[in-house]
Amino acid sequence: MAGTIKTVGIIGAGQMGSGIAHVCAVAGYNVLIHDQSAEQLEKAIATVNGNMARQVSHGKLEEAERVKAMAHIRPAMRMEDLSGVDLAIEAATEDETVKRKIFAQLCPNLNPEAILATNTSSISITRLAATTDRPERFIGIHFMNPVPVMKLVELIRGIATENVTFESARQFVASLDKTITVAEDFPAFIVNRILLPMINEAIYVLYEGVGSVEAIDTAMKLGANHPMGPLQLADFIGLDTCLSIMQVLYDGLADSKYRPCPLLVKYVEAGWLGRKAGRGFYDYR
Ligand code: CAA
Ligand code: NAD
Repeated sequence: MAGTIKTVGIIGAGQMGSGIAHVCAVAGYNVLIHDQSAEQLEKAIATVNGNMARQVSHGKLEEAERVKAMAHIRPAMRMEDLSGVDLAIEAATEDETVKRKIFAQLCPNLNPEAILATNTSSISITRLAATTDRPERFIGIHFMNPVPVMKLVELIRGIATENVTFESARQFVASLDKTITVAEDFPAFIVNRILLPMINEAIYVLYEGVGSVEAIDTAMKLGANHPMGPLQLADFIGLDTCLSIMQVLYDGLADSKYRPCPLLVKYVEAGWLGRKAGRGFYDYR
């Protein structure tokens, strides 16, 4: 475990929040996880349990470690329940308004010494930090999906982030056995600045009829050795998240090369958000 951080609070119990809870609990942190939806919170804890059980069956985790790690995770029904955490990680929907509302509600309840981090995929850390009461103790800790499997975490300082905050975050991420890359606070940082235009281009390729969903994914899996085709990956990330990231790139860099593909917009408007919604470029129902 890292320095003074013993208890981690997570806000947002979707695919990322549950993955972050998983790796923190296995590393020995006490975890409090909160979501606006009680149903989602219950589902997240069941998902973590299922993923840990799979790790046990694949010999990646001892059964006793699973039991111990699960005992470290507690649901927090109210945001006020996070008052005692040393580090709060916001992992809610990729929408600046949603994140601002969470910080407004969270900060008055949070220990003044606590570090506040966001797992945003794209939004300015400086801008988010400025809406809080602690820009110097605010930082971007960007995990990759699926969190228990992916080795990388991007660390992003806002303009006001103090070195001591960065160092605590660095030690915390290292204690999870992840590799860190440091990115500057530009729209979508490093991974998504490169990955999302590729995914958006794949959606244009589909939109223009250059190839079918299967042809595009097969081409990139077998032709470029990607573990998932770009459309399968878009469904995996969530099409709402993909669209939000493209919008942040488009607005933030003011270049038409980042224009979200109209087909991506249409799918999101239809509620076809990918795997989590049961339907996206593929049908999961
Ligand atoms: N939790 C825990 N373990 C998981 C898991 C999860 N959610 N999902 C998969 N795994 C484990 C499996 O149990 C399996 O473990 P073993 O090696 O012990 O068998 C291992 O991962 C491989 O899984 P599978 O055999 O089921 O499937 P696979 O070989 O196709 O791999 C994958 C799955 C790791 C997800 C792989 O397809 C992959 O790497 N895909 C690309 C993922 C990627 O690009 N992620 C980044 C997305 S972008 C992002 O995260 C940033 C953003 O802001 C949007
Ligand atoms: P998700 O849609 O799976 O989950 C989002 C969760 O946030 C939902 O459970 C929702 O109920 C909850 N939520 C929304 N508003 C809330 C509020 N006011 N209070 C409490 N909870 C609230 O999304 P996700 O894929 O887990 O993404 C979460 C964050 O992580 C986003 O910022 C996203 O950009 C980032 N991220 C996503 C990925 C990915 O591949 N999906 C990878 C890295 C980072």
